Amino acid sequence: MSDIPEEVVARAAELAQELREHGRRYYELDDPTIGDDAYDALLDELRALEAEHPSLVTPDSPTQRVGGEVRDDDEAGTPGVDRLVKVRHLERMLSLANARSAEELRAWIDRMHAHLAREGIDDPTFRYVAEPKIDGLAMSLIYEDGVLVRGVTRGNGEIGEDVTRNLRAIDVIPEQIEGERVPPLVEVRGEVYLPIAAFAALNERRAELGESTFMNPRNAAAGTIRQLDRPLPTDREPTERQRMDHELRQLRLGSLSFWAYAVGVTDGLRLDAHSAALDWLREHGFPVNGDIRVLDDEDAVVAQCLDWERRRGSLDFEIDGVVVKVDDAELQRRLGVVGRDPRWAIAWKFPPTTAKTTLRRVVWAVGKYGDLHPYAMLEPVHVGGVTVSQATLHNEEDLARKDVREGDEVIVLRAGDVIPQVISPAPHAVENPDRGPAPEPPARCPVCDTPTVKGDGVFTKCPNRDCRGRQWQLLKHFVSRGGMDIDGVGEKQVSHLLEVGLISDAAGLYDLTREQLEAQERVGETSARNMVAAIEASKARPFGRVLFAVGIEGVGDVTGRALAQQFRTIDALRAASPEEIARTPGIGPIVGGLIHEQLADDRLWGLIEALRARGIRFEEDGPPPGEGVLSGRTFVLTGTLPELTREQATERIQAAGGRVTSSVSKKTDYVVAGDSAGSKLAKAERLGVPVLDEASLLDLIEQGPPPAPDPEPA
Ligand code: IVH
Repeated sequence: MSDIPEEVVARAAELAQELREHGRRYYELDDPTIGDDAYDALLDELRALEAEHPSLVTPDSPTQRVGGEVRDDDEAGTPGVDRLVKVRHLERMLSLANARSAEELRAWIDRMHAHLAREGIDDPTFRYVAEPKIDGLAMSLIYEDGVLVRGVTRGNGEIGEDVTRNLRAIDVIPEQIEGERVPPLVEVRGEVYLPIAAFAALNERRAELGESTFMNPRNAAAGTIRQLDRPLPTDREPTERQRMDHELRQLRLGSLSFWAYAVGVTDGLRLDAHSAALDWLREHGFPVNGDIRVLDDEDAVVAQCLDWERRRGSLDFEIDGVVVKVDDAELQRRLGVVGRDPRWAIAWKFPPTTAKTTLRRVVWAVGKYGDLHPYAMLEPVHVGGVTVSQATLHNEEDLARKDVREGDEVIVLRAGDVIPQVISPAPHAVENPDRGPAPEPPARCPVCDTPTVKGDGVFTKCPNRDCRGRQWQLLKHFVSRGGMDIDGVGEKQVSHLLEVGLISDAAGLYDLTREQLEAQERVGETSARNMVAAIEASKARPFGRVLFAVGIEGVGDVTGRALAQQFRTIDALRAASPEEIARTPGIGPIVGGLIHEQLADDRLWGLIEALRARGIRFEEDGPPPGEGVLSGRTFVLTGTLPELTREQATERIQAAGGRVTSSVSKKTDYVVAGDSAGSKLAKAERLGVPVLDEASLLDLIEQGPPPAPDPEPA
C-alpha cells in the first residue's frame, strides 16, 4: 500500500471504522446516529477511494458486506444472558434497489424489458403495484394449517430472530387464519411498525420515568419487538424497577402495528399476481394498506409515487418511499433476483428531510487517541418527525469546508431515519455582517484542560494520555463487540466504573469482583455475576482480536489478525522493526512506524503487561502460517456467508494455516463467495479460480484440500 498517499489510507480507515460503528448501531443496538443517506454518502466515499486504490479493499471493508450481522451464539460468550433464538428463513428475505427520480424509475423499467428480451419475451405487458415503503421492521410470519407458529425478524435476510412471543401481543396480527383457501403452509411477510402517535406517547412516558427516549418510530419498533420477555416474578413482590420495566414493555408491545405486503413461501396456495396475494391477505384478516394501487403504466407509477410523497406528512406512520412491484407472478419469476434485490421491484426513495435551525454552539468530544471531534448543539427543531438538538460535524476539515459558525442559521439533514448532520449555513447566514468567527478546535482539551496539539492528521489532539475522555473512549472500544466483546459492560458501565475510580484502564476490569460491582447502584446480583463472567470469558479472545481491542493507533480488526499471524507473540511484534511490521499484509510503512513507536512506549506496554499478567492472550495459538491443512493456500472472501461472519471465516481459515487476502489474482487458490458477491466473484470466474460456498469451505477445513495433481502421471 506504499504507493497510496497517507491521507487516503487514513481516510479510508476512518471511513471503514465509522461505517462499521454506524452499522453496529443500526443493526445491533437499534440506535443509529446517522440516517441512511448520510450512511450511503460515507459508503460512496469509501467505495470511490477503494475503486481508485484497489489494494485498500479488505475482506471486512464495509463496502464488502451487507446488512445486519446475526450474532453467532458460540461467540457470544456470556452464559446466562438471554438471547433471541436465531432461525433460518424458509426463503431468503430480499432487499430492494433504489430509484430516486422518475429517470431512475424509467431506467429500472428499461432494465426489466432488456432482461426479458434476453429471455425471449419481447413485448411484456407490465402492471405495477405501488405500495408505501413503511419505515419499520420486516417480519416473516409462518402459519401452519392456519395457525401462527412462528414470527421471525428479517435479520440478515437468511437468518433472523424468533420474536413469536412478542408478535402475538400485536392485535392486528391474526393468531389464526379463518375462511376458505387456507393452505397447510403459508408465510406472510410484512412490516411491524409503531404508529407516530404511539411513538410520541411512548417517548413521553419514558421521559417521565427517566428513561432515554427513542430517536424515531423505527428504532422504537425494533427495540420493542426484540425485547426479551421477562415476566414479573410470581413468588415475591416485584420491585419498583421490575414493575416499571414491565409496564413499559407492555405499553410498547401493545402499541405496535403491522402492515402485510406479501405472501412468501406457501404450500397449497396458488396466486398468479401480487395483487391477488394482497387480496388473499386482506380477505384473510391481515391488515393491508387501503391506498395500494394497481397501475398500468410508468406515468401513473410516477404520479402515484409523487402523491405518496405529498401525503407522507399526514400519515400516522412513517414511510421513507414507495415500493413499486411488477404485478404478474410469472413475470416476477422470469425477472428473478440479482444479488440480494429482486429485478421485479424497486424502492422509490423520498428525498431526505431537511430543516433550518440555529447553531447554538460547537462542542468538541475527545476520541480514543485524543482526537477532537466537533458536534453541533442546535436550537431544537423538528425534522422528518424527530426533534433534533445535536448533530455531527464530522471533523475539522469538514467543519471548515462547510463554514458554519456559532449563531448561524444552518440546514440540518435527517435522512430516512436518524442522526442529523449539519449540511451548510442557510444561504442568507453567510451574508450576516455580525457573523461569529469560524469555530476553531479548542486550545485546551475540553475534558482535562491539557493544551491541545495539531498533528499532521486531520484532528487536533489532546496529548494527555491520562485524559479521562480518552480513557473512556479506549475502554468503550476495548469492551465493544468488535473488541473484547464483553457483554453487559458497555458505555454506561465503563463510564461509571471510571468515575467512581474502580478502574482506570482495561486491566482494571479483570480485577473487579462481584462484590464490588454489586455495591454499585443499579447493579443487581445477577448482572454483577454476568458482568464478571463476561469479563472472564473475554480472556478467550484470540491474540489478533486483543491487538485490536487494546487500542493501538493504526491497528484495525483486520490488521490485528494479520499482525498476530505474522508475529505470533506480542514480544516478537515489539521486537520487530518498523520495516518488518510493514511487511505484514495490509500494513504500509507509515502505519508500520506508528505501531512500532507505540509499542516502544512504556505506557501502552505497561497496559499490555498488566493484561498479560491477568491471562489475556498475547500469543497466537493456531498453527503458524504454513502449518495446517490449508497451509500455503490463499483465500479471498466475498459477499455475505450464511452462518459465519467475515471475521469468523477468516479466523477459521487462518487457524487451519491458510491466508486471507483482499483481492483476487491468479495466485488466489480459492474464492469463498456468499450472498451478493460482486466483482470479486466475477474476477474469480474469469481467472478460473475455484469458488467455494461456506459449506465447502468448512469441508475443506475439515478434510484438507485434495493434493495438487502430479505434474507427471505416475
Ligand atoms: S417488499 C421484494 N414491500 O423494505 C422484496 N418491502 O428494502 C422486498 N419494506 O426489508 C420486500 N415496505 O423492510 C416490500 N411494501 C413493502 C415494504 C417493504 C417496507 C421494507 C422491508 C424490506 C425493505 C427492503
